[in-house]
Parts: sequence; structure tokens; C-alpha cells
Amino acid sequence: MYQFTGFLYRNIVKKILFLFSADKVHEFFLRNGNTIGKSKIIRKIIEKSWSYKNESLEQTLCNLNFINPIGLSAGFDYDADLVEILPSIGFGFHTIGTVTHEPYMGNPPPMLGRLPKSKALLVNKGFKNKGIKEVLKKLDQNKTKTLRGVSIGATNKVYQDFTAMLTDLILGFVEAETFNNFDYYELNISCPNVTNINNISNLISSPVGLNQTLENLNKLQLKRPVFIKMPLERTEAELKELMDVASQYQFIKGLIFSNLAKDRTNPIFNKNEIAKAGKGNFSGKPVENQSNEALRFAYRQYHDRFVLVGVGGVFTAEDAYLKIQYGASLVQLITGMIFMGPQQIGTINSGLVELLKKDGYKNIKEAVGKNA
Ligand SMILES: Cc1cc2nc3c(=O)[nH]c(=O)nc-3n(C[C@H](O)[C@H](O)[C@H](O)COP(=O)(O)O)c2cc1C
Repeated sequence: MYQFTGFLYRNIVKKILFLFSADKVHEFFLRNGNTIGKSKIIRKIIEKSWSYKNESLEQTLCNLNFINPIGLSAGFDYDADLVEILPSIGFGFHTIGTVTHEPYMGNPPPMLGRLPKSKALLVNKGFKNKGIKEVLKKLDQNKTKTLRGVSIGATNKVYQDFTAMLTDLILGFVEAETFNNFDYYELNISCPNVTNINNISNLISSPVGLNQTLENLNKLQLKRPVFIKMPLERTEAELKELMDVASQYQFIKGLIFSNLAKDRTNPIFNKNEIAKAGKGNFSGKPVENQSNEALRFAYRQYHDRFVLVGVGGVFTAEDAYLKIQYGASLVQLITGMIFMGPQQIGTINSGLVELLKKDGYKNIKEAVGKNA
């Protein structure tokens, strides 16, 4: 079934979708995904066709039961429109947001672009979302085994100083704490598409700014584990400084490697595509190598102090397995799903089971970090 739908998606559906602007197609998926997610019958049909289950993919991390290691990364379902349909597609977990204390209508369009030859997307959304309250009140009780996370960042607006930005971010977490029905937080310190007057936004991903942020978050005694979404394009020394700060706070349970790429000189880009690319930053294959190296470095430095999550350029089971062998217990994606189709989640999970078997592992846990 995966092979048939994958063939249909890549050869017919994708060709039609790619005739329209990426912004329009994304909106179309959110609207229709929300509608079909309300139908029990459609959910069942999709689950039967695409969802793949196997005990060897199950793990308990931070007291949460992950039925498989493949999750939807932050940024696709920013207003929680897809919470009902994503479990049927076969995700083990998915992240809503990034959401912010105040709503933001998004950067001036186009907010998305495609670079098919480079296997990348151009992203310039800047935390488009309806605001934490509006988004989280949509979350009803989760009757599925797919876990839900919420990514929180500071509202995209002009701040007088770092303290004002931090206050906004903390207010976001305070607000989110009043809601149930989700399982973990992501702290987004690394969005490259936000207003950045006097480099105030950059401060949050500096060791001093991160320490100040975590100091304040620590006081909230959050009910759920927090994963930090790390920036790409940092040296090992810079990463180590950030991780040293994070490791001092027990409520920081995990690190996610990594957010979007800014660098336009990466030879992985098709020259024509990158020359025409407008404002924004890149997902997909341009993120992959550097995020893998950061992940591997984090595992070598900290072993199991953090649950590591690998993201960036995952299109196949082999891509996901590499991240697992480098130290990731969990893997997220967006771009691979857009290029390969929604059935790819099941394809990746079933492929992982084969790869585990081939290497003689009974459970995914045994493979984590084996090639770090
Ligand atoms: C359309 C789009 C929007 C994104 N928005 C966010 C966001 O709001 N917060 C965030 O932490 N990451 C965001 N990202 C980054 C992804 O979560 C992920 O780190 C990155 O795209 C690499 O994964 P991929 O290659 O599988 O897409 C976004 C990515 C895409 C493609």
C-alpha cells in the first residue's frame, strides 16, 4: 500500500500540488486535514492504509510512551489544525506551533518556497500563529497513542530589550501551563525568521541569554518535560557552551538538532534554485549533514543526559536510522513528507524495523548512539 500511494503521490498528486504556490498548498492541507480529521471513517481508512506498528519501535522516554520514533516537526501544524488526522497517518508524536503569547499573522508573503532539485523548502513564516490561548484551547482529550508537544517562542514583534522579550516568552509558558491534553514542550530559541532589532532575538541562543531564560522557566516548575530546539550553523565550542547551560537545569530533558539553515553557499543547493530563492531560510537536505554532526557531538559529550531528537533532511528510513545511530532517540521531519507524501511515515517506520533486524537489535533503544 505504501509503495502504491507513494508512487501516486510522487508522480501525480505532487505534480498537481506543485503547480500552486507553496503557501496555498499548505493552507489547503491544513483546512482539509482539519475537516477529514473529524471523520472517524476516514481516519480509520487512513490508519489502515498507512499507519505502521511494531513493538521494536516502542520506547519510554521522559515517562512518555512513544509508539514509534517518527514525529512531525514544529512549523507544519502551527495552529493545531491537524491533531486529529496526524495519529492516523502513523506519527509517534507531533509538535504544534511554534506558538507565541500574542498572535502573529506571519511575515509578508511568500512565506514558503520550494527548491525541488535541492530537496529543500524556503521558509519565511516568522511564527505565524493565532496565539497560545486560541491554539491550545482547540486541544481536546487525546484518545490516541500519538503524543502531542507544543513549541513555544517569543512573539514576533519589536522589543525594547531582551528582558521585554523574555517576559513575553515566559508569559507564553505560564499560559500554556493552564492547558491539559499535551505531553511535552519545545522551547524554540532558534527561529531565524523573526524580527531582530539590535540582535535581541539572537541573545536567547547565546549562553548568557539561554541561562537567563532557563533560570526564569525553572521558577515555573513546568508540569511537562522541555526539549530545546537548537540552532544550526554553530561550532562545536558554541554548541558545548549552550549544552553546558542546558545541562544544569533538570527540567530540560531533551535537545532537538536542528532548526533551519541560513547558509546559501552549501554546495548541496542547486545553483539556479539558490540564485532565485527569495527571503527566508532552508529546510530539508541543506540542514541534514550539519544537524547530524551536531547530534553526534551532543551524544558524545552528554550520552544519556539528554533525550536527543534528530531533525533535518529525513526522507527515508536510512536517513532516520543514521540519526538514531548518531544518538537520536527520536526523529522529526517536515520536508521529507512534503516531497515523498504522507505515506512516507509508515514507509520509514517499517524500513526502520528492517534495519534494526538486519543489525540484530530487538528494540530501537539498542541502536541509539551506536555510531556516534
Ligand atoms: C514550513 C516550515 C515551518 C517551520 N516553522 C518552524 C517553527 O515554527 N518552529 C520551529 O522550531 N521550527 C520550524 N521549522 C523547522 C523544522 O521544524 C525543522 O527543524 C526543519 O525544517 C528541518 O527538518 P526537515 O528537513 O524535515 O523539514 C519549520 C520548517 C518548515 C519547513
